Amino acid sequence: MTSNQIRKQFWEFFKGKKHKIVSSAPVVPFDDPTLLFTNAGMNQFKDVFLGTGKRDYKRAADTQKCIRVSGKHNDLEEVGHDTYHHTFFEMLGNWSFGDYYKPEAIEWAWELLTEVWKLPKERLWATVYKDDDEANKLWKTKTDIKHNHILKFGEKDNFWEMGDTGPCGPCSEIHINLGDDFDNPEYVNAGTPECIEIWNLVFIQYNRDENGVLHDLPAKHVDTGMGFERVCAVLQKKNSNYDTDIFSPLIEEISILSKVSYEKEEDKIPMRVIADHIRALTFAIADGAVPGNEGRGYVLRRILRRAARYGRKINLNEPFLSKLVDVLSANMGEVFPEIKEKNDYVKKVIQGEEESFNATLDRGIELFEEIVKKLNKKKGKIIPGEDVFKLYDTFGFPVDLTNIMATEKGFSIDEVKFGELMDQQKERAREASKEKFSSVNVVLNDLKGFKLISPEPTVFTGYDELETNSKVSGFKRDNETDLVILDQSPFYVEAGGQVDDTGFLLINDNKLKVVDLQKVDNQIIHIVPNDKQKLIEPGKEVIAEVDSNRRWDIMRNHSVTHFLHAALRKILGTHVQQAGSYVGPDHLRFDFTHFTKPSPEEMKEIETLVNEQLRRNLPMIHHRNIPFEEAKKMGALMFFGDKYGDKVNVVQFGDYTMEFCGGTHVKNSSEIGLFKIISESSIASGVRRIEAVTGAGVEKYIQSQLEHMKQFSHRIDELLETKKKLEKEISDLKLKEKLGQLDHILSLHSEEKGIKIFKGKVQADSMDELKSFGDELRNKMGSGVGALISQIEDKVGIVAVVSDDLIKEKKLSAGKIVAELAKLVGGAGGGRPHLATAGGKDVSGIPAAISKVEKVVGEFL
Ligand code: ALA
Repeated sequence: MTSNQIRKQFWEFFKGKKHKIVSSAPVVPFDDPTLLFTNAGMNQFKDVFLGTGKRDYKRAADTQKCIRVSGKHNDLEEVGHDTYHHTFFEMLGNWSFGDYYKPEAIEWAWELLTEVWKLPKERLWATVYKDDDEANKLWKTKTDIKHNHILKFGEKDNFWEMGDTGPCGPCSEIHINLGDDFDNPEYVNAGTPECIEIWNLVFIQYNRDENGVLHDLPAKHVDTGMGFERVCAVLQKKNSNYDTDIFSPLIEEISILSKVSYEKEEDKIPMRVIADHIRALTFAIADGAVPGNEGRGYVLRRILRRAARYGRKINLNEPFLSKLVDVLSANMGEVFPEIKEKNDYVKKVIQGEEESFNATLDRGIELFEEIVKKLNKKKGKIIPGEDVFKLYDTFGFPVDLTNIMATEKGFSIDEVKFGELMDQQKERAREASKEKFSSVNVVLNDLKGFKLISPEPTVFTGYDELETNSKVSGFKRDNETDLVILDQSPFYVEAGGQVDDTGFLLINDNKLKVVDLQKVDNQIIHIVPNDKQKLIEPGKEVIAEVDSNRRWDIMRNHSVTHFLHAALRKILGTHVQQAGSYVGPDHLRFDFTHFTKPSPEEMKEIETLVNEQLRRNLPMIHHRNIPFEEAKKMGALMFFGDKYGDKVNVVQFGDYTMEFCGGTHVKNSSEIGLFKIISESSIASGVRRIEAVTGAGVEKYIQSQLEHMKQFSHRIDELLETKKKLEKEISDLKLKEKLGQLDHILSLHSEEKGIKIFKGKVQADSMDELKSFGDELRNKMGSGVGALISQIEDKVGIVAVVSDDLIKEKKLSAGKIVAELAKLVGGAGGGRPHLATAGGKDVSGIPAAISKVEKVVGEFL
């Protein structure tokens, strides 16, 4: 029997018992902050057990995708070393919501196992909670299990809890002993591979509060969970889950990639680790999680690193994990179409993450070498726990790897200190996660201590109005604050990225500021500072008033995220998926999946497209409380966390966008005003973030940009002014330097017939410059004649000067002198008596011209 057939038989069996077959919830529970990953089939029904939610069926069955790597149910370290623990697994389950109870649950479980699947009765064992005489008796009367195969256990084994708080109750487990000694009770719950638990029947009847106290639930429920991979192994007569058809295609592919066969135990372990982890990674990423530094992202990063590390044990040194995704989606995509749809996306995320991990590993290996060098110098033999921890924490080295590397070099590691540091880190993480959930002023998990006059949930009026006349329906006084539940309220409580509203409660003439909001069991709790006049009491009339300007800004920003989402998908492609958002009054943030940095042109196109659509005056159509299935049929864009059977809201703007959304929105796209992107960046591999503003936010943005521009242009004027000054200074300096050439000429004059002659070759860049040299020479030489010749580019320039006394007394003329000199360089020229210039073409004539100055002057005397 194949695994697909086994799954189907389970569904058929419970369909026959009038159960509705529902879909698995996503493995990433975006709507439950107390859980990183879906860890049991009952998660999606938590609200039904607590009595705060309803479904239109009383019996359900499904297969649920589960990940157990953190929190209360944590199997990570075992995974791969044994053959029956997994990070990701499927849990087959059947449920009764206040309908059937223990007798049917026990009877049907037995029927499926022994009559449909024909498991050998003599190998089956049932455990019951030590005080649960009822279940104990039912096993004897409703089934033909051997009476000595019913065993009692305590809280640890037979009292099931979802987490530290929440629905819980006694349970009864079914184990199978596949060994030779199968009639021996000692194997049950002993943690051996031949005797394993396959099905857990939980009788949910309590809710545990944050003080650890159990409260009876309004009704009793059944919640069962069967380990699908284990049952497949039993039915396919395999010793290991990894030998079933669920894992064998993966193991085969790993074998091909690594060229290592699945034979020796030391090779089998890494292969099992990889086969297991790739499932957790693929399913989590397909459901919207991404590897990162915090929360579930961090857990995924650790899983990926663990898999990559184990890969190195079987020669897989280059990134290889993404190559397994195709095999997995071919094998399981039928039952879980999401992994088929997201196949390429998942591969890219995994590959990017693995590449960056390889770089980190290389740096870690360098660090390890340094540590070893230092120890060698000190003749130490034990690698300190601090270093082992650093390798683990910063560079992702599992401790067993460090141990192996150390042993290879003849060292050991300080495991005790490492263990201490790990414990400290776990404690820090625990504190941090506590803090995360208590960053608000008051944390409420239940309505304990409230004076409630009605159990009816608060009616949310905030889609239609921002001021509501309502009544206090519940009240509790906390030290410094009053907690007020209203029968109806326009206050939006943070959800789906949209922040809490702010505003006031008006009671008589008293105005109380709402400082925080919480939602518990669908009651909206308004938290206000202590009402000194003690006016608040159940039944009292109250006007609830939301700060409307702020809310309008929030709505603009929220509505525009839908336009942005649609535009991104249009311009960048439909692989774009929302990965998170923040919608506040002053700006919005939208995180989405995409692999390359969008080009400036693409960003411009996106912004333009959004603004074009906003200007189309598209009306908002609010589909409220419609069945999930109907919304999906309408083609609404779905975000994580919604599930079959739910009633959902869909927000549509004309023909442009339609999305599942519980938030509040403007009534028409033109109310949003203008949309402006302020930044675009990468926040993780494959995830990008856009920050943007709308309406008044754009106005503010433009004003601040203009102010910047003003400051800039002022600054530029200043810079230009300085530039001019500097240029003048430079040219003055240059001229001064060039004029220095004249010093030599002035110091070495010759004489012709009693007249001083100053002459020589100079370097000038232009005729003008040469002329100014002439001026300078004339000023400095006193009585005499001067002639300067320069090569200017490939021509010749000449300037001649004559002092006033010689013009007068000797009738000498610079014009005439220069004309004669010009002839010597193949040119012509002339001018006034005191200064004249000429040009010539024959550069080679320069020396001759210089040597003949005296002669030329002499001829005029
Ligand atoms: N919720 C029960 C479990 O996870 C069935 O074991």
